[in-house]
Amino acid sequence: MAKALIVGSDHAGLALKRELAHVAEGLGYEVRDVGTHTTDSTDYPDYAHQVANAVAAGEGVGLLVCGTGVGMSIAANRHSGVRAAACSDVYSAMMSRQHNDANVLCVGARVVGPGLAAEILKAFLGESFEGGRHERRVRKIEPSRED
Ligand code: RB5
Repeated sequence: MAKALIVGSDHAGLALKRELAHVAEGLGYEVRDVGTHTTDSTDYPDYAHQVANAVAAGEGVGLLVCGTGVGMSIAANRHSGVRAAACSDVYSAMMSRQHNDANVLCVGARVVGPGLAAEILKAFLGESFEGGRHERRVRKIEPSRED
């Protein structure tokens, strides 16, 4: 079964989201785009919540693009089981997977150019969780899990 990437953006992230969707398809991902699909001004939480719901349901990993990546990450991280990382460099994207088991990547279209954004996405998708000592720390992220 193809690996799934659920993508969403607001108007500010639309063009970059489309470019990154192509990158992910090239890596063999089945991409599902929850919107937005036009450049009309819209509200980023609407898309963050849709992607977060799908990721929390185990349907795949997520990609959210807005102007900065910050609003998307704040909204997505309200969902239990979702660990969204706003990244504007490759190293953070790699570490967000290896150490934080991030399952949603958030990118700012007004912060990084398309070339760097593609490298960030490739780094994110190419890494996996190291487990070990990080397992306990990630478990402690959920407010209800303090053991
Ligand atoms: C839209 O202007 C902008 O606020 C939004 O894309 C995002 O950057 C919010 O975090």
